[in-house]
Amino acid sequence: MTNVAVLGVSGRMGRCLVKALRDSEDLRLTGALASPTSAALGRDAGEVAQAGPVAVEVTADRARALDRAAVAVDFTLPEAVEENLAAVSKAGIPVVIGITGLDGPRLAAIRRASQALPVLVAPNMSLAVNLLFGLAGRAAAALPADYDVEILEAHHRNKADAPSGTALRLGEIVAGARGGTLAELAAYGRLGKSQGRAPGSIGFSSLRAGDIVGEHRVLFAGTGESLEIVHRATDRMTFAHGALAAARWLVKRPPGLYGMSDVLGL
Ligand SMILES: NC(=O)c1ccc[n+]([C@@H]2O[C@H](COP(=O)([O-])OP(=O)(O)OC[C@H]3O[C@@H](n4cnc5c(N)ncnc54)[C@H](OP(=O)(O)O)[C@@H]3O)[C@@H](O)[C@H]2O)c1
Repeated sequence: MTNVAVLGVSGRMGRCLVKALRDSEDLRLTGALASPTSAALGRDAGEVAQAGPVAVEVTADRARALDRAAVAVDFTLPEAVEENLAAVSKAGIPVVIGITGLDGPRLAAIRRASQALPVLVAPNMSLAVNLLFGLAGRAAAALPADYDVEILEAHHRNKADAPSGTALRLGEIVAGARGGTLAELAAYGRLGKSQGRAPGSIGFSSLRAGDIVGEHRVLFAGTGESLEIVHRATDRMTFAHGALAAARWLVKRPPGLYGMSDVLGL
């Protein structure tokens, strides 16, 4: 059995991870972290996830959450990532990070931590989205540069960051396949009088509505034809199972920075 600590255990993803761990034959939950103001503090993590008791108390104490863990899975929010990294570094355990909306300094902190620890970061843990990354790159490289690219994503009303981390990763892949960078080519939303479309730009649109788990659509539109590649997540358990596959894979690796494509062998 491999012991797992879930950071962000009371959140939408954390609760799915508790359920997936309850059903796992080789991984078990041994630590459960929530924020210092969480309504879940002191409660059984399994009860919080409505998965039945698991005898692991939700705590805001990182050292306690990591105490018995062989690997941590972090689905907190960007503002917690640096403290989480300090705690896993002190404990000397690998960490799978699913948080999105990480800015430059936080990504730099992740890179620093990965010099001493195995660290895996992925804005999307699903198998099919990681295939979508490859397909979008192939299409962007194969189609002429005058095929306009638009990336559309839809998520639930409470999602904190926009565009989604997955949409931004798709943008980086398309930009790279066309010999540019996302910073040069991204066009985020549109308002008011249009000046027309900048050649080669990559447009982003974000919908926030209801309880949509996650939808990503990459549109390549030429003159007289268009191609769309679409992924729909309908259940967060798909991300939870992906994150646990990543945790299983990561415990056996040397220090370094890894992504889901390493786990999936893509
Ligand atoms: N990579 C993927 O496949 C994937 C899939 C889905 C979501 N995500 C990303 O994963 C992250 C979490 O998503 P979610 O929908 O589960 O969010 P959420 O429901 O808001 O949950 C956030 C969790 O983090 C905890 N937390 C917040 N601040 C904290 C702090 N300072 N210290 C410790 N714990 C803290 C919260 O505790 P309390 O609320 O109880 O206080 C809660 O347990 C987001 O960045 C989201 O975009 C990634």
